[in-house]
Amino acid sequence: MTIKITWLGHSAFALDVNGRTALLDPFLTNNPLAATSADDLAAEIIFVSHGHGDHVGDTISIAQRTGAKVVSNVEVCNWLSGKGVKHTHGQNSGGGYLHDWIHARLTVAFHSSSMPDGSYGGSPNGFVFTTSGKRLYFAGDTALFSDMQLIGDQVIDVAFLPIGDNYTMGPDDSLLAIRYLRPRFVIPMHYKTFPLIDQDVAAWANRVNSETNSTPIVLDPGATYTLV
Ligand code: NI
Ligand code: MN
Repeated sequence: MTIKITWLGHSAFALDVNGRTALLDPFLTNNPLAATSADDLAAEIIFVSHGHGDHVGDTISIAQRTGAKVVSNVEVCNWLSGKGVKHTHGQNSGGGYLHDWIHARLTVAFHSSSMPDGSYGGSPNGFVFTTSGKRLYFAGDTALFSDMQLIGDQVIDVAFLPIGDNYTMGPDDSLLAIRYLRPRFVIPMHYKTFPLIDQDVAAWANRVNSETNSTPIVLDPGATYTLV
């Protein structure tokens, strides 16, 4: 029973859970770090944290090609439905639902959410996923917030945290987030894609090792970490 976590660049990840495939914020086209083409990705289910273009990304084309169900807030789902995505499942902050083999609960995120065409995108979210006996927290785009301690109380195996600064929390705040969340492993995201969010990820990882009890997992785009 393993979960394979592949970083596709920016905040895009593929999760392979015992052969079932989920995508998170699949932004590949126009992503300078993209590890693959959107046309080459398999997906049964796609999770979208908020309406911004670097998170909605290629959701429409992947969903149309694969028939994947898309899970996001209700406003993002309504917008995607209007663009021809057949299977959507809207949730909202605090709400959880078991999608067959992966349970997803939307958390709050302190950020904004508008669709690529400027229309209303509801509230931004993160996700707490429970699957195959593991719990993962995907923060989405967010500032640091102290209620991350409550998420940490649920016992997190892996936290995916933005560290790019400028649009989200940066390295300093992410260190405090890690102390709140207490995950076994932490994976950085939303950095290096553009000059504005470039970060010294090796220095960040050193600080995680010396200042927290969590283990940093720094992936190159396209690389996979297997969680056991
Ligand atoms: Ni955003
Ligand atoms: Mn973003």
